[in-house]
Amino acid sequence: MSPHAFRAQLLRFDADGQPLYDDDGLLVTATDAQGVRRVLDAGPFGALRERHAQVPLTHWPGRLIAPGFIDMHVHYPQLDVIGAPADGLLPWLEHYTFPAESRFADPEHAAEVAGFFFDELQRNGVTTALTFATSHPASVDAFFGQAQRRGLRMIGGKVLQDRHSPDGVRDATEQSLIDTEALIQRWHGQGRLGYAITPRFAPSCSDAQMHGAAELARRHPDTWIQSHVAENRDEVRWVRELYPQARSYLDVYAGFGLLRRRAVYAHCIYLDDADRQLMHETGTAAAVSPTSNLFLGSGFFNFIGADRLGMLHGLASDVGGGTSFSPFHTMLAAYYVGREGQTKPGLSLKPSQLWWQHTGGAARALGLEGVIGTLRAGTEADFVVLNPQATPLLARKTERAQSLEELLFALIVLGDDRLVERVVIA
Ligand code: GUN
Ligand code: ZN
Repeated sequence: MSPHAFRAQLLRFDADGQPLYDDDGLLVTATDAQGVRRVLDAGPFGALRERHAQVPLTHWPGRLIAPGFIDMHVHYPQLDVIGAPADGLLPWLEHYTFPAESRFADPEHAAEVAGFFFDELQRNGVTTALTFATSHPASVDAFFGQAQRRGLRMIGGKVLQDRHSPDGVRDATEQSLIDTEALIQRWHGQGRLGYAITPRFAPSCSDAQMHGAAELARRHPDTWIQSHVAENRDEVRWVRELYPQARSYLDVYAGFGLLRRRAVYAHCIYLDDADRQLMHETGTAAAVSPTSNLFLGSGFFNFIGADRLGMLHGLASDVGGGTSFSPFHTMLAAYYVGREGQTKPGLSLKPSQLWWQHTGGAARALGLEGVIGTLRAGTEADFVVLNPQATPLLARKTERAQSLEELLFALIVLGDDRLVERVVIA
């Protein structure tokens, strides 16, 4: 069991996404039969100290314990693509992304990049990520092998792309599905690892590959599905040409049977209410990727539309279209995107809502509610220890904060990896 307690400022979330904050908090954890550390109890130190008087205690004065961040959409092989300028998504894929991904046929290269990727997630306080590998099965083995060694709850999969893709990344329809099945058998449900069936996006997958992906998703209902939808106007136009009979881009995926719980689509910018309703009805989630959408000039996610139709959504870095692994940068960019009021109604997302969308809300959207993201009793104890005094300006701003929302906003606006003092993995 080996219980252990941690005393510091403590941020948690309830099941509805409301923040719970203790200025002097206690997080009590214990290891379960599988060797995973779980939250036993959490709350004000004064109220809990008696109950856990025998439990060894670590005290971090002046520090803030919060749930580990969850990145709903990231491409680990695009680490070296960050900051590649292009005239939008499609030229960016062609000139930078596909050439960089073609190098992942080499397992040594994949292992080196995967190691750097997990180090970078850790430095930034990200403890779970739904991740694209490349079309090369070796890139998936490198990803899961390292995640397993580090004890991380990670989800990923081999990219499917059998058309409109250059030599070096294009796969072969039948073999791609055989490889996917083998990778599911090898990695899905191994400890904390989960497999995501990964058709890259509709233009890059033949009908046969899409049907095969959907068939795998039906046969393995607790796997994830991840793809991209409605990110960029040129991309949307291309899909309309490829599928003139479909009502919308999202409808293409619906037609193949690729919408369900644990299906996660990045971007979701050019959706209408019928699409949002379909996402809601099928339990399909959106991975909102604001730094990517701003960097590539893709557009602005409509948070009001998403909430109005009850569409599951959470935040994502989308590195390497995205410019940062830092959840603070992503939350701030999400705030900017929310404010934008020319292409859709603007709003001011509350700091605690932004934080929820990158922790417990993201967990819910991934179908991992009650597993990670909130630090509620019974959940897995992946958490970060933040130093609100990490820089002079942060210290000044957080000292003057009059409320939890002011404190969280200071961290979001001024924060980066310097804030993350420690990461504890369940
Ligand atoms: N659409 C298809 N592939 C990609 C990708 O790698 N990144 C982004 N942002 N969009 C895509
Ligand atoms: Zn992406």
